[in-house]
Amino acid sequence: MQKPLNIGLIGYGFMGRTHSNGYKRVNDFFPELKHRPVLKAVCGRSPEKLKAFADQWQYESTETDWRELIKRDDIDAIDIVTPNNSHAEIAIAAAEAGKMILCEKPLALNPTEGEAMVAAVEKAGVANSVWYNYRRVPAVTMAKQLIDEGRLGRIFHYRANFLQDWTISDDVPQGGAALWRLDAAAAGSGVTGDLLAHCIDTAIWLNGSISKVSGMTETFVKERVHTETGKVQPVSIDDACAFLCRFENGSLGLFESTRYARGHKALYTFEINGENASIRWDLHDLHRLEWFDHGDEGKLRGWRSIHVSDHDGEQPYMDRWWVPGLNIGYEHTFVHHVADFLKSLDTGETMHPNFRDALETQVVCDAVLKSAAEENWKVV
Ligand SMILES: NC(=O)c1ccc[n+]([C@@H]2O[C@H](COP(=O)([O-])OP(=O)(O)OC[C@H]3O[C@@H](n4cnc5c(N)ncnc54)[C@H](O)[C@@H]3O)[C@@H](O)[C@H]2O)c1
Repeated sequence: MQKPLNIGLIGYGFMGRTHSNGYKRVNDFFPELKHRPVLKAVCGRSPEKLKAFADQWQYESTETDWRELIKRDDIDAIDIVTPNNSHAEIAIAAAEAGKMILCEKPLALNPTEGEAMVAAVEKAGVANSVWYNYRRVPAVTMAKQLIDEGRLGRIFHYRANFLQDWTISDDVPQGGAALWRLDAAAAGSGVTGDLLAHCIDTAIWLNGSISKVSGMTETFVKERVHTETGKVQPVSIDDACAFLCRFENGSLGLFESTRYARGHKALYTFEINGENASIRWDLHDLHRLEWFDHGDEGKLRGWRSIHVSDHDGEQPYMDRWWVPGLNIGYEHTFVHHVADFLKSLDTGETMHPNFRDALETQVVCDAVLKSAAEENWKVV
């Protein structure tokens, strides 16, 4: 018999759907888990939209105030999928109520909020996790395994991009339910917290801590109509951000993110160059891990493209899905995240990334933004 884990989801937008799908699917594909998520309650502010979401995804109940949800004895875990400016308040209250917490990224608006969140979950001793889901793309998890096995040798370079093009028009407004990402009060920052945070989380996981950064940001459209006031207001998010960094292992990093790369919708790529081998990955071809091994026989040496889909147990996660050679997708990263969270409850092992891991990413984002504003290097 699996033990029910009653989920209280706060927010029912894009991530509300990916997480609900993860909770619903997980036990079908990871039957050995001892916990079973139950979609106990979903919380949102609009009763009609909330009811429609609850009906569609089969949540047992609804709440229109997250404080009421947190008070409920029948909720074990709070899942925060609201805009970034509400993460800290909800997470701290949930920790004080003794709930487990799964929080969307970025952890918070800034490191001060993030530190308070880490202190709250660690004081309460509650299980916690942050949804940096790209760690759980099988090819990315395999990159981690190859690096940990020492196959790259000394690492010289890490470079990553996250490119989009959806805010190029001056006519796109800022703020409100749909466009909170363009409003610094709700989002904290622009592409740095939204997109580069993913790149930084993956980079720290694969290549260790970042020690120094030097950033450059730009806001290409300086004023936009604010949806809530109807007035043209200054835009205070970063539309684009690039930074150089040094990692503690001595390697050099180069990161770029923008919402002004015409033609790119969500192009997340990274490449790592080591003394023995290099690795390359591209979200648009997420099954493939490109691998160059200098140890290969000279005649045949070259980049290989590994379709990470084997079922021999050596390629992560894939033996849970269909048959060798078939693809999975974006949504499966959330199923894997839920599976690993439940496994951590079963085994007592710490789940990663957790609030403390996500705080490290938050601190790097903050240093990048400060460095860009002051046009200098910042020690992290
Ligand atoms: N892991 C990822 O790849 C990924 C991708 C997208 C978004 N995110 C993160 O997920 C979070 C949500 O983003 P999204 O794209 O789902 O946003 P969204 O705008 O689609 O959904 C946000 C939801 O929060 C609700 N909400 C806002 N304030 C609320 C409140 N006070 N009480 C209850 N509900 C409230 C909104 O009504 C909406 O349902 C953000 O922190 C974002 O950075 C992560």
